[in-house]
Amino acid sequence: MSKTTIEVLWYIFLWLLPSCLSLDNGLALTPPMGWLTWERFRCITDCKAYPQECISEALIKRTADIMVKEGYQAAGYNYIAIDDCWLERERDANNRMVADRHRFPSGMKALADYVHERGLKFGIYQDYGTMTCAGYPGVLGYEEIDVKTFAEWDVDYIKLDGCYVDSTKMDTGYPAFGKLLNETGRPMLYSCSWPAYQDKPNYDSIERHCNLWRNWGDIDDSWTSVTSIMSWFANNQDELVKHAGPGHWNDPDMLIIGNFGLSLDQARVQMAVWSVLAAPLLMSVDLATIRPEFKEILLNKDIIEVDQDPLGKQGLRVWTGSNCEIWTRELFDGSYAIAFVNLREDGAPYTLSVRAHHMKIPNQTYKVKDLYKEEESRVFGAEDVFETRINPTGVRFYKFTKCVSHGRRIRANKNHCVV
Ligand SMILES: *[C@@H]1O[C@H](CO)[C@@H](O)[C@H](O)[C@H]1NC(C)=O
Ligand SMILES: *[C@@H]1O[C@H](CO)[C@@H](O)[C@H](O)[C@H]1NC(C)=O
Repeated sequence: MSKTTIEVLWYIFLWLLPSCLSLDNGLALTPPMGWLTWERFRCITDCKAYPQECISEALIKRTADIMVKEGYQAAGYNYIAIDDCWLERERDANNRMVADRHRFPSGMKALADYVHERGLKFGIYQDYGTMTCAGYPGVLGYEEIDVKTFAEWDVDYIKLDGCYVDSTKMDTGYPAFGKLLNETGRPMLYSCSWPAYQDKPNYDSIERHCNLWRNWGDIDDSWTSVTSIMSWFANNQDELVKHAGPGHWNDPDMLIIGNFGLSLDQARVQMAVWSVLAAPLLMSVDLATIRPEFKEILLNKDIIEVDQDPLGKQGLRVWTGSNCEIWTRELFDGSYAIAFVNLREDGAPYTLSVRAHHMKIPNQTYKVKDLYKEEESRVFGAEDVFETRINPTGVRFYKFTKCVSHGRRIRANKNHCVV
């Protein structure tokens, strides 16, 4: 081949590169936000005993209305999704999936319409195996007809779980299912549980075929569960962060903020760390009864902005010591979101004193804003020690913005950058 031919081929290769390396359905350019039934409502199917909590069209409609009326939609939470336990135990005479006739009497198409009329998007759950994790019919053997059914119901988001199937089949099965989704012509967000069932997942392939993927075990309603997910993500971060970016995200699982297991401080930790992780923000809570102080965490604009940062770069746990952790995420405008987490349970708030290199940020002058708005803004200079006092099992979460003007560094006084 001549040198020019090689150059031409090289440019064609470069031009093809972005479209080959990740799923191109135009969705999830920032981490998906919404609400999902599983963590809070599990498989509650007895609507007589638990009318407010059973997996039903009433729950979805009630939640959709609240999302619109109470500012969740305006804050960016736009998907509303049903997890397991929505199906009848048997397919119909044509092998089509049937929604539970008592709990979803109007059917899924009508429910999707209800959700769409409110400007929200509709998500649903299935499983790549012979059964869902809770034992309802899975898609294996019925993939084509099921994908067609989802498209007919106007579904916008599929979570495909991985119970009851040989996990070695997933490397071909999940891509094949994604291809069927694509062929419907309806853009559907594709959430894969594929890596959560494998020891050595092929993330290059997962990133090419899924918009988001559950890496690890399910979240439960406890602080232990939140911290175990945090440490798993930190311990595997070198592998994970490479694969996150616009259109494709690691998923540490739902936000359990507002339920029974987390204190206010612990709920703040989850919101802060999940936003550093560029995680999907999928609430799983009863929005009809959530206490206002937890609602305020979920609606914190500055923190949502960190999560939704257009650069889409997943952050890292950059430092540990004294049973505290620092989590840093670089943002599109060169600023940094930095969470100081105190894992200590020994009593009084703990004061941490660190320098720029502990936070893994360039050595320069920053304006520092407290994203939970408990402190005044302050300035942190290159030679300074940064002191912060963190509640037990709590967090301090700041945005560090460089003091610059027209590309040049500028002076700063105690509280602001001085132009
Ligand atoms: C299907 O895939 C093609 C090629 O990646 C992409 O351009 C198109 O937008 C996809 N369509 C849907 C509905 O996902
Ligand atoms: C940071 O900058 C200050 C002032 O220029 C300097 O004294 C200090 O040694 C630098 N620290 C590091 C870690 O580079």
